[in-house]
Amino acid sequence: MANQVQLSITHCPMIASGIAADMAGLDQSLDRDNGLLDYARLRRTTVQAWSPFQKGFFDGVFIGDRDNYRELNAVLDEWAAKYEVTPTGIAVAWITRHPANMQVVLGTTNPGRVAESAAGSELPLTREEWYRLFRAAGHTLP
Ligand SMILES: NC(=O)c1ccc[n+]([C@@H]2O[C@H](COP(=O)([O-])OP(=O)(O)OC[C@H]3O[C@@H](n4cnc5c(N)ncnc54)[C@H](OP(=O)(O)O)[C@@H]3O)[C@@H](O)[C@H]2O)c1
Repeated sequence: MANQVQLSITHCPMIASGIAADMAGLDQSLDRDNGLLDYARLRRTTVQAWSPFQKGFFDGVFIGDRDNYRELNAVLDEWAAKYEVTPTGIAVAWITRHPANMQVVLGTTNPGRVAESAAGSELPLTREEWYRLFRAAGHTLP
């Protein structure tokens, strides 16, 4: 019914590898999960994203980390202002806007952050907005 995997804008190899498929020499092009996302969509398995705000494997939160993710935070701020939510809401929207109908597994114990996250969960980010976040996080869009 569901497969719970690590997924955030900054850690998304299962999405990013397909976007840069078959590009020799580009690390992003490597398939690290044997087509997990394609399989889930074909079998209608719900992908659940854990660590939705973490830079990598429990490396801390990318939201507000302007030293390491300056461009990403600028775009998060821009779409947050446009949609009148917080950057946390936009980080959730990036996951829920994906056509695989993913669910976001929050780790917060802060009720305010739960509300901010829920506010972003049904935002109709445009494709351009989604891909700008993707590129601002450092991924390649060929
Ligand atoms: N299936 C698996 O293998 C697996 C593996 C790992 C985790 N999980 C599940 O996934 C859940 C989520 O993972 P996670 O806890 O790594 O996810 P997360 O929601 O990305 O991170 C939660 C942590 O980040 C902090 N945080 C969130 N937003 C923040 C912000 N804007 N500014 C500062 N701090 C912020 C939270 O602090 P506050 O509490 O102060 O908000 C909390 O310490 C876990 O609780 C667990 O249930 C499953």
